Amino acid sequence: MTKEALTTHDASEDARNRDIKIYVNGEIVHRDEAKVSVYDSGFMLGDGMWEGMRLYNGKWAFFDEHMDRFFASCKAVSLDVGMDRAGILDALTRTAEANGMVSDVHCRLMLTRGVKVKPFQHPSLSRTGPTLVIIMEHSKPAAELQNRGIRLATVPQVRGLPMSQDAKFNSHSKLNCVIACLQAEQAGADEGLMLDPHGFVNTTNACNFFIVRKGEVWTSTGDYCMNGVTRQKVIDLCRANDIAVFEKNYSLYEAYGADEAFLTGTFGAQTPVAEIDGKPIGDGSREVTKRIRALYKELVEENTNT
Ligand SMILES: Cc1ncc(COP(=O)(O)O)c(C=O)c1O
Repeated sequence: MTKEALTTHDASEDARNRDIKIYVNGEIVHRDEAKVSVYDSGFMLGDGMWEGMRLYNGKWAFFDEHMDRFFASCKAVSLDVGMDRAGILDALTRTAEANGMVSDVHCRLMLTRGVKVKPFQHPSLSRTGPTLVIIMEHSKPAAELQNRGIRLATVPQVRGLPMSQDAKFNSHSKLNCVIACLQAEQAGADEGLMLDPHGFVNTTNACNFFIVRKGEVWTSTGDYCMNGVTRQKVIDLCRANDIAVFEKNYSLYEAYGADEAFLTGTFGAQTPVAEIDGKPIGDGSREVTKRIRALYKELVEENTNT
């Protein structure tokens, strides 16, 4: 594989990002001044939750869905957010205003259990907190990915069972995904295609994964992968627009032989897959992916126009 490596999170270069302002626990400061303690639970243990969201026309796309997931994850690990979703929205609004940002903005909202009194694991050692950080960048997904498509490699790292570290936690600790990404990179691909513990195709290290076969859209059962907001929107859009969609187990045999494949995520919306393990996917016409992408674009416009 000789093509230049691209990831689903590649954005066009934007010089304005060198001087963005970042929210840290109520303060909004230049990125060079934005700091958290080396005793912070997020730094020390990856003990925190985050959300990636996008701003269009001054409105956060699918804000309620992101907050549903965020608050549910925090509750599940007894991480007290310290404010309600109106408080989060206020912090987001203040940060966007401080940066003069309205559209084509990507945000990473991060909450950790706060600052520890000792460098050990026990959650009760986190005495000052939580720590809330909001990074917003001017961001447009790299346009060339839509034509070129992403190259996936199936990796040895698998998705875990929910009783170890549930894949539905958008936790600061993403080591499972990072290892998968490294393995994909070592195989010369852009992103890792991860199997579930039974060997069925599940997801990629950073996005949800779909295939299209004979006009039908397939994705994994939803077990073992992130409950992606974009994944659910694609399923709902298919149902509303008479596109057959199935959440089911399938193997690499069916993925290699798919007519189309695409990834979903808040950042890149729907990103086409060019090849899996060096095998080209479909003939490159990508009709169903293009249709879903257009429907999703309309949905984002509807959601952010009110
Ligand atoms: C592992 C993984 N899969 C999928 C997604 C996509 O989720 P969403 O569509 O909510 O952005 C994410 C995003 O955080 C992720 O980390």
